[in-house]
Amino acid sequence: MEHKNLISSLILLTSLLLISCNQSNNEVSYTFDVQPTFNSRCIGCHGNLEPAAGLCLTNYDSLMTGNSNNGPVVNPESKPKYSILYQKVALNPPPFGLRMPMDGPPFLTNQQIDYIWRWIYNGAKDN
Ligand code: HEC
Repeated sequence: MEHKNLISSLILLTSLLLISCNQSNNEVSYTFDVQPTFNSRCIGCHGNLEPAAGLCLTNYDSLMTGNSNNGPVVNPESKPKYSILYQKVALNPPPFGLRMPMDGPPFLTNQQIDYIWRWIYNGAKDN
């Protein structure tokens, strides 16, 4: 009887662990988790009209066309930490220029940065 209890507890524990791991890897949505950050913190400078550094952040296609000074800012094949987009919002200081948003602080919240990281990690999809 006691043995049985132990096994059930182990099964329960394993399931809980699997559920929590799965949650931290949940895919993020570009539309719902990433673009809203750009809308509130970036498009004042990276809008449609003469966007700063040639980088327009008003939609997925303009972000991915890579018409910025330094080529594509997101490379889905590379790890997020090598994507200029991630480096510019997360690193202090970034590899070149200023940390974004340039009018910060405040900079992005950990949650916003985490969404960007996970979105790139999951293939930078138009989702
Ligand atoms: C107040 C204006 C301003 C705001 C707001 C701003 N940026 Fe910028 N951004 C710039 C300027 C100017 C540059 C070019 C100088 C530099 O790289 O530091 C730049 C450069 C960049 C670059 C590098 C582009 C390249 O390849 O040269 C990225 C990526 C970037 N910004 C992302 C963002 C993101 C993401 C946000 C919002 C979280 C943001 N920026 C908010 C003005 C701004």
